[in-house]
Amino acid sequence: MGEKSDQSQKSGALFKAPEDFAKSANVNDPDIYRIADENPEKFWEKNAENIEWYSKWEKVLEWEPPHSKWFVGGKLNACYNCLDVNLKERADKNALIWESESGEILKYTYKELLEEVCKFANVLKDLGVKKGDIVTIYLPMIPQVIISMLACARIGAPHSVVFAAFSGESLATRIGNANSRILVTCDGYSRRGKVVEQKNKVDDGIRSCGIVDKVVVVKHQNNDIQMKDGRDLWWHDVMEGADTSCEPEIMDSEDMLFLMYTSGTTGKPKGIVHTTGGYMVATQTTSKFIFDLKEDDIYWCTADCGWITGHSYIVYGPLANGTTLVTYEGAPDYPDKDRYWDIIERHKVTILYTAPTAIRTFMKWGPSWPQMHDISTLRLIGSVGEPINPGAWLWYHENIGLGKCPVVDTWWQTETGMIMISALPGITTTKPGSATMAFPGIKAAVLDEKGNETAPGEDGYLAILNPWPSMVRTVFGNEERFIETYWSKWDNKTYFAGDGAKRDDDGYFWIIGRVDDVIKVSGHRIGSAEFESIMVSHPSVAEAGVVGKEDEIRGEVIYCYVTLRTGVEESEDIKKELITYVERNIGPFARPKQIIFADDLPKTRSGKIMRRVLKAIANEKDPGDLTTLQDPDVVQVLKQKTKLLD
Ligand code: PRX
Repeated sequence: MGEKSDQSQKSGALFKAPEDFAKSANVNDPDIYRIADENPEKFWEKNAENIEWYSKWEKVLEWEPPHSKWFVGGKLNACYNCLDVNLKERADKNALIWESESGEILKYTYKELLEEVCKFANVLKDLGVKKGDIVTIYLPMIPQVIISMLACARIGAPHSVVFAAFSGESLATRIGNANSRILVTCDGYSRRGKVVEQKNKVDDGIRSCGIVDKVVVVKHQNNDIQMKDGRDLWWHDVMEGADTSCEPEIMDSEDMLFLMYTSGTTGKPKGIVHTTGGYMVATQTTSKFIFDLKEDDIYWCTADCGWITGHSYIVYGPLANGTTLVTYEGAPDYPDKDRYWDIIERHKVTILYTAPTAIRTFMKWGPSWPQMHDISTLRLIGSVGEPINPGAWLWYHENIGLGKCPVVDTWWQTETGMIMISALPGITTTKPGSATMAFPGIKAAVLDEKGNETAPGEDGYLAILNPWPSMVRTVFGNEERFIETYWSKWDNKTYFAGDGAKRDDDGYFWIIGRVDDVIKVSGHRIGSAEFESIMVSHPSVAEAGVVGKEDEIRGEVIYCYVTLRTGVEESEDIKKELITYVERNIGPFARPKQIIFADDLPKTRSGKIMRRVLKAIANEKDPGDLTTLQDPDVVQVLKQKTKLLD
């Protein structure tokens, strides 16, 4: 993957924002880096003034590595900062323009959104939800997902949003870990015109977990569902007559705002804990500086609220800036491949934030689709989720940004809560394929195994050397895993991101990709171990090794090497069955591209499957040192089988 970035470094292409953009940008003085670097705490403290606090902090930062507390003693409410603060000047401004796959459009002004949020906050209270209770939200991109999140924030109940395409099983695991009594979901939703039976997945998933007391169900698709007496309630019933005002709960800066489950290197997803004060300051500031949000902008982030991008850069950051959001529920090629450009034209979108996978897909479809529409309202375009190769960057800049829009390639993670490496569009000279520089106040570096900075051009591990306001506070219920995963690599105070990277002679960051066993399929984060443990729970499977194979469009796809139990014959049927099994147990986005049957897998002498070797085989690369393998012959067999797939 490093080769991709090398190409562009050689091509030397450089881009600067047009002069008028730069002049009026929210940040146009490069001195911001020096000022923030000299005293990051002071930088964040200054930006914290853009948030409304019930009472101010006593101290900006308490840093007892690897634990941080930000704006210590400060009191605030995140929902208040997204909605109420905008009432004075923007009560009748659109907060949200939502479009369904079938073309239905709903608009909510700030005042209307606040009313809906207050109503649902009161509903939650009536259901017995108290400050600190975790509410699980399992909704597609419909207005109710945003309303529920903000309603939770209003009453101090941390939310845990589970991506709607996850299976009922995955939902149940997350509910179980969070011990979440209340679930918000819907009857179903549409994807490329086909109905996804969301409520059925819920019923299957939570049958055995025995934790959920109440399920609030949004009637969205009108598909037939079963409502369980005493447990299931219709959203429209409980909302009817609910009070449109609700006092926001006064929260401590360090109270949990939400939990977001993500995949790591071990078998179980981990609940990343984000707190209130630092997170709000971080997302408000980065949204304003990186997306250059202005009063008249129409901002569309194509992410889903089921992932961190939807939390930080659909809901909290942009709303705290009083922005008008566009959100779209459906697929980019429904009814046709110009749907995104049609949305941009009709709603006059000015800022677009999307993912490399989407960009590469648009490239494949060709420029005639965006050319069918007037997308000249765009003034800034962004990318997130995986490395963007220079070719895709250039195509995006030229065909979507029409050669004039600055491109912000933003590197960050569920754990960082905010964008950590990105251009500041008014001042940074961008290089296609590079996320450019650390955000002001963030000290990022590329380190070697021992923790020394690598030389320019040399691969190493991406690390963050100082604390930042929206950093992960812990892994929910698993402090040990928090320390082990992120802090133990070097000195227990340097954050290990799990990504490989390098810097060039100008100090620009070039992210290479994950160095751990996390696979990024179309930007979705999938843990190898989690996937393997699902595979081996199938009665026909004895062992499984799962790796990512590089893919031109999706970044990576899943290759799954499987040994079957004695007596089970290899067949196309069993392959299909295993694919369905994955879809049912994780979700369709985790569908393996290839299942390769083998009599044995490469293992160490102690019997551990060597994913490093499988990954090399899948990517037709040199597997390196094989001397520690139990049976090196296995490699040849697997290589041949993999080759035959092409
Ligand atoms: O590998 C990096 C990749 O996405 C990972 C984080 O995934 P997740 O927690 O799901 O958050 C995705 C959205 C913030 C990172 O470890 N990644 C994210 N953005 C970029 C990226 N890789 C390269 N360039 C990016 N801009």
